[in-house]
Parts: sequence; C-alpha cells; structure tokens
Amino acid sequence: MHHFEYREGRLYCEQVPIETIAREVGTPFYCYSHATLSRHFRAFDSSFAEVDHLTCFSVKSCSNIAILNLFASMGAGMDIVSGGELYRALKAGVPAEKIVFSGVGKTEDELVYGLEAGILMFNLESPQEMLVLNNCAARLGRRAPIAIRVNPDVDPKTHPYISTGLMENKFGINLDISESMYIQAKEMSNLEVVGVGCHIGSQLTEVSPFLDTIKRLRLLIDRLREQDITIRYLDLGGGLGITYSEEAPPHPREYARALLAEVEGIDCTLIFEPGRVIVGNAGTLITRVLYTKKGPVKNFLVVDAGMNDLVRPSLYGSYHHIQPVVDHRRPQLTADVVGPICETGDFIARDRSLPQVEPGELLAVMSAGAYGFAMSSNYNSRPRPPEILVRDDKFEIIRARETYDDLLKGERVPDFIR
Ligand code: LLP
Repeated sequence: MHHFEYREGRLYCEQVPIETIAREVGTPFYCYSHATLSRHFRAFDSSFAEVDHLTCFSVKSCSNIAILNLFASMGAGMDIVSGGELYRALKAGVPAEKIVFSGVGKTEDELVYGLEAGILMFNLESPQEMLVLNNCAARLGRRAPIAIRVNPDVDPKTHPYISTGLMENKFGINLDISESMYIQAKEMSNLEVVGVGCHIGSQLTEVSPFLDTIKRLRLLIDRLREQDITIRYLDLGGGLGITYSEEAPPHPREYARALLAEVEGIDCTLIFEPGRVIVGNAGTLITRVLYTKKGPVKNFLVVDAGMNDLVRPSLYGSYHHIQPVVDHRRPQLTADVVGPICETGDFIARDRSLPQVEPGELLAVMSAGAYGFAMSSNYNSRPRPPEILVRDDKFEIIRARETYDDLLKGERVPDFIR
C-alpha cells in the first residue's frame, strides 16, 4: 500500500500533484512519500513487536540523509556495508549501538571507524577479515563484537545477481567451516563473539528459503552454545520482496509469523536488515517524454531519465510499472521506453503497452524507491536528479539536482597538460 494515487485523472503523492513538483524542480526527479515510508517501517517493525528485536534499515537501498533521519526517529538501527554508510547513519543520529556492519571487503580504515564509533557488531565474511579486525581492535585496546555471516547454501529463488546465500556466492562463510571459525574467534583476545548473521538474497517472494536458513542456523547456534560460545544476536538479514508487477510476496506480518514460529525459544535478540520492503514502493521516478519515435520494427518513447538515473531495468531486466502522470483515456501503444544514454542497454521498459503519450508529458516509473537513486551515476556526464520528499500537502527537496559544476568536483588538470 502506498500513497501515489490518481485524483480526477492526475497522479498525486499524498496531497501534492506530481505536476506541481515537476513545475518547480524540473524533470527527472525522485519523489518519496513520507506517509508510505513511515507506514512501511512501522508495519515491518511492529510485526516483530512480541519479541526482542532490532530493525536495522539497509542503508544501501536508499541512503538519503533525510530518509535515514526519519527512520532513526522511529527507532531504527541501520545495516551498513561501508565507511560512507557508517558516516551517513551516524550523521542521521542513529546510535552506534544499533548499527551492524556487513560486507566482504571491509578495509582496515573502515573496521577502525566502526570500532571507534562503537557499533553493535561486525558481520565477518572471511577468516582473513577476522584476523585484521582482531589486530585493529588490539591496536585500539578494544574488543570487537562480532557475528559470522554464515552462507547457508539456500536457494532464495531470485535474480542470480541478487542471490547471496548460495555456495557459489562470494558472501559469508560456508556453514561447515563457520563452527571452527567461531572456535578460533573465541580464542582471539580482541574479539567478542556476540551473534550469528546471514543474508541470503534480495527480492524474495516466498518465506521458505528464510525458514530453511533458520533451521540450519539453529543447529549451528546449538553446537556453539554447547561449546560455551555465547550467541546473543541472530541477524536474519533483509531480502523480503515487494510487488513490482505480479509478484505476491508475503506481507511483513505473514513473514514475521512464519519466522517467529521457526525461531521459537531461540533466546536471541533478532536483527533484521530490510531495505526494499520499506522503501521500494515509497518512491517513484518522474520523467518527461522528450520524443516519440517510430523505428522500422519498434516504437520508442525517449524520456529524460536514463540508466544513470535508474539502472535496475538495464542491469537486472527488472520490471517497473510506468504510468502517465495525467491519465486520460486514450489508445494503448507498445513501445520501448528509453533514455538519452548512448547505450542500447539504456531502457526503462521494453515492449511495454502504455497509453499513447506525447512529447512533454510526464511518466511515473513506479516502485523506484529502493536501489533507484542509490545506484544512480553520472554516466554520460549527466547531473543526478533531485530527490523530493512529500509530507501531506507539502514537499521538500531533500537532495538538490546536481549542477554541471558538481560534475567536475574533485577533478583537476595536472601541470604537465597545461
Ligand atoms: N543486508 C545485506 C547484508 C545486504 O547485502 C542487503 C542487500 C540487505 C540487507 C537488504 O536487502 P533488501 O531487504 O533490500 O532485499 N541492487 C539490487 C539489490 C541488491 C541487494 C544487495 N544487498 C536491486 O536493485 O534489486
């Protein structure tokens, strides 16, 4: 459920007509609904109200500081995967003790930053990383709280690029060797084992892979406890999917019900790292049709947003629903919706049946709140679009449109070229 709705044929975000925002800020732009963001966070978090838990919003899915502030004010922790994300989370006022740090390639600097900040735990992804963290912690005279991110070898049944819990994926530690790594960790003087973690993939539309994962992790936790290794936290990662088109993922309540039955009696604080399920349907990308073009075998709608603004269709073949901002009855047309980037892979939709639109009209690319702006780039030297946050009948620019000067920030011409 989101707050982008038509009223008398015009698309609104909450109480604000999308056309009004477009007039003020130009196109393309990302538009988020405050009511949807907060409703989705609450829906997820409250589904686990009956147990001790922490919902750590996955910063990578949508990292705007205003949105992180909103979740922080609602009590969220954060799941981070880089020093930059740690910086954002702290700037957003998230207490360090609600931050969990995953990622296969954390650098020493990033580990030290996390240690100095005093984060809740480091989810380790390799034996070498464990040694590096132990050394960093020793230098600082600290004990680093750790979990091992276990790769349970469970098929999440999602796009191969976003599966992370299969044996062939780079993530986590194989279940079989994780136990010996825990035993080593217990012996290391500057590490403190506090949890077990996992994240098996993204855009999951069934609960069974989560349940299979929990079954495997429970066995591990039992074995660890038999060896006096204390496990206080069970981090189940993120991954719950959303409806882009026809998918019917479980509602967070159903997901919670199934997971809670599976973790019954486990005696851990549960940690979740949801991203997409909270922000995905809370954001849209608004773009303007520049040209309509008829090729010999295809129709094209050339719009002013490209793969630099929203890369998901090009990268994963992802479906995003597209609808005209002003909806009046008109014939349908099948077309590719393409951007201005000089690549054949620059499309937002292919062979899509859409109402016939004319140059100058606005289109809303739906479900673009997760991994939308967050994955945008300056490819083709295109300034990135602004992000807008709507609340009731007001809207604010939460990230300005980049300028041409921004594009050159940090670049310099060395003397030997002048
Ligand atoms: N925790 C960890 C350790 C992760 O790697 C991820 C996502 C999440 C949590 C959040 O997952 P979510 O709840 O959003 O599914 N760019 C891709 C998605 C990549 C997901 C990467 N990891 C896309 O646009 O579909």
